[in-house]
Amino acid sequence: MEKRYEEIWKSSLAKRAGRLKRSIIRELLKVTQFPEVISFAGGLPAPEFFPTREIEEACRYLLPIKGKVMLQYGPTEGLPELKKFLAKKVRKYGVPAVPENILLTCGSQQALDLLGKVFINEGDRILITAPTYLGALQAWRLYGPEFVTCGMDDDGVIVEEAEKVLKEGPVKFMYMLPNFHNPAGVTITSERREKLVELAEKYDTLIVEDDPYGELRYEGKDLTPIISLKKERVIYLATFSKTLTPGLRLGWILAPECALSKIIQAKQGADLHTGTFVQYIVNDLCQRGILKAHVEKLRKLYKERRDVMLESMEENFPKEVKWTHPKGGLFLWVTLPNKVDTKKLFEEAKKKKVAFVPGFAFYPYEGGKNTFRLNFSNTPPDKTREGIKRLGKLLKEEL
Ligand SMILES: Cc1ncc(COP(=O)(O)O)c(C=O)c1O
Repeated sequence: MEKRYEEIWKSSLAKRAGRLKRSIIRELLKVTQFPEVISFAGGLPAPEFFPTREIEEACRYLLPIKGKVMLQYGPTEGLPELKKFLAKKVRKYGVPAVPENILLTCGSQQALDLLGKVFINEGDRILITAPTYLGALQAWRLYGPEFVTCGMDDDGVIVEEAEKVLKEGPVKFMYMLPNFHNPAGVTITSERREKLVELAEKYDTLIVEDDPYGELRYEGKDLTPIISLKKERVIYLATFSKTLTPGLRLGWILAPECALSKIIQAKQGADLHTGTFVQYIVNDLCQRGILKAHVEKLRKLYKERRDVMLESMEENFPKEVKWTHPKGGLFLWVTLPNKVDTKKLFEEAKKKKVAFVPGFAFYPYEGGKNTFRLNFSNTPPDKTREGIKRLGKLLKEEL
């Protein structure tokens, strides 16, 4: 395009568009698309486990009898039967939900964006763990908050650090990943969940509980969600991306009605409503018990993949390297001695045809230089063994 046209587009951009950055991570990860590279980088579920046949059957069954409604516009709030199903499902975990508290979204990513739109003013302090989910940072950066951080250990967020941040000044909300954190793989213990709620009460703030992985638990017992401890202060996010398929783009928000009404208005402006077709299909899979059976199957398959990765790391990684042992989810987090820069290490890994995500990507400003994230769900056991061997060799050379 001629320069003068480019100029006019550029000078017409809103000020906030300047906050949108090209993702370095996308550039870095381009290499992972080559078939010879064993990539532990993406956050993808395993496509070979997708319930394709079940989805096909649901389409065949539903279209002749429901075609006229499932291809039509629908309510912004979402399909009433599905909302009812979800409310009943989470009530089993002690979450006091009714359908009126639920909004279906285009994945949890849209939920994060809508929360940004509705709640974040420029300069608001948002308390996050460092590292945290990269997509939340991307969604919220546009609204100009200041991210304030606290650390994590094997028991999840370090609540003393969270309190220190809260003492320093008001926080709009705390963004917490209760189960099998992305990227860290850790789970917040029950005691710390209670403490978070106490802190929210003491410092009069709110909690966003983002839980895409909770159902993918491979050992131990389900823990009570934070929202069950104090529903008045918590917005809970969940998604079908990891339990069914991400391509469906279906997630949901559970929130107090007074907050949800504004979020619904924001969603109306964004996309009117989430795809009716997809909601009918997923509702059918939920009502006929297919989702439940599929999640049980995934738990077994992903557990095997996690175990293979952990065993291979044990065999191949030098002893100075530490990593988390996730009880579920898709990721684990590796910490190397301070002197190692994993962004540079990534370049070396590329030469050995293996990939991970360097940890800096999950920090809002800086940090995580000597860390990286590994995904275990998307690689079959044999490839995982080979990839971890390559990585182990590289780490031994490096250290
Ligand atoms: C913590 C967390 N929140 C939200 C999302 C977005 O998921 P969805 O596919 O539902 O938009 C992801 C996806 O990886 C995630 O890890």
